Amino acid sequence: MKFHLVSGACGFVGRNTVKQLLKRTSDNILMIDDLSVGTHPLTWMKDFSSKAFKDIEILGEEERLFYWQMDFRKFLQKLQDDPNWLEKEYGLKVNYGDAFHFAAIVGGRAKIEGDPMAVALDLSIDAEFFNWISKARPERILYPSSSAAYPINMQTESDAVALKESDINIDGYTLGMPDLTYGWTKMTGEFLAKIAAKHYGISIACIRPFSGYGEDQDLSYPVPAIAHRAAKKENPFEVWGTGKQGRDFVHIDDVMDCMFNAMDKIHDGTAINIGSGKLTSFLDLIKVFTKFAGYSPEIKPLTDKPVGVHSRYCDMSFVKELLGWEPKISLEEGMKRVYDVAVENLKREK
Ligand SMILES: NC(=O)c1ccc[n+]([C@@H]2O[C@H](COP(=O)([O-])OP(=O)(O)OC[C@H]3O[C@@H](n4cnc5c(N)ncnc54)[C@H](O)[C@@H]3O)[C@@H](O)[C@H]2O)c1
Repeated sequence: MKFHLVSGACGFVGRNTVKQLLKRTSDNILMIDDLSVGTHPLTWMKDFSSKAFKDIEILGEEERLFYWQMDFRKFLQKLQDDPNWLEKEYGLKVNYGDAFHFAAIVGGRAKIEGDPMAVALDLSIDAEFFNWISKARPERILYPSSSAAYPINMQTESDAVALKESDINIDGYTLGMPDLTYGWTKMTGEFLAKIAAKHYGISIACIRPFSGYGEDQDLSYPVPAIAHRAAKKENPFEVWGTGKQGRDFVHIDDVMDCMFNAMDKIHDGTAINIGSGKLTSFLDLIKVFTKFAGYSPEIKPLTDKPVGVHSRYCDMSFVKELLGWEPKISLEEGMKRVYDVAVENLKREK
């Protein structure tokens, strides 16, 4: 039977991927998450049934979702020790379909700058993953890199450009400086992806999402946090730094659509951008949300907060050329969806 594997299945991108797999396929899904950040599947698949079986849970009436609350490295170690572990322990005769690797220590800017060594542990999670795929050989692999892999000197206030895939040249002789340990990890992951494809014949696609956002993202990320504060009519409105720094915001539904498209067409470890191609400053983002809320607050810059690079946005022309794909959800539409959920959440809090 075909099983897709999703690591970090209970995080933001992971749970959206699981929902897509349920819609797009009738296959089984192995979900692994240690819940260090993510939330239990029943919190986001509320009408699913759950049946305990040994140390795992089987979710849904169709019984095609198998959930391990476990460090992904331990899960992989068990498979390294005995490739038939899933069959012997759980009676699952697994034929691996797609493997999506979202287990990672990510966090917002505060985590990336505040605890870079914790984020560097992603190197150990990724190394175990790449070693496992070279042996287990799932049909296709999705590795999520990040816009943080791009050279930071191309994202300064004076020199910011729309970042192109070719600005990272892993096959060449020069590389720029990525964004702290988080960016280094992703660059290493892309390097391993190329090796997996070239030396092991694995079908693998890498994606570099820019600032993915969505209705179900947690409040440690700027978009839902700003939406929540606008819904509460915060005034003065706090912004990290001057608020003039900008990002390329892309709705998670567009990320999903582009990601599945990429897996159909990319097999050699090539990495693609996923963004809107537009730069939006945090001040402009605040304006969008406070307009929805119907007020115009005073802005209060918090200059002691970490802000990261000044301007990070992408050029989407390579994706258009390679996949014929363009984002469909405008900033206004996507942010309105987030705002409406923030208003509902606020009513529930009261
Ligand atoms: N969200 C975005 O816009 C975005 C942008 C670029 C790249 N990415 C990449 O996509 C991936 C997923 O990001 P996300 O936004 O969903 O992050 P997230 O923090 O919401 O999800 C990560 C999940 O992994 C789990 N996890 C962490 N360490 C684990 C371990 N050792 N074993 C098992 N589970 C573990 C966490 O509990 C969490 O549920 C990451 O690799 C991230 O770098 C995301």
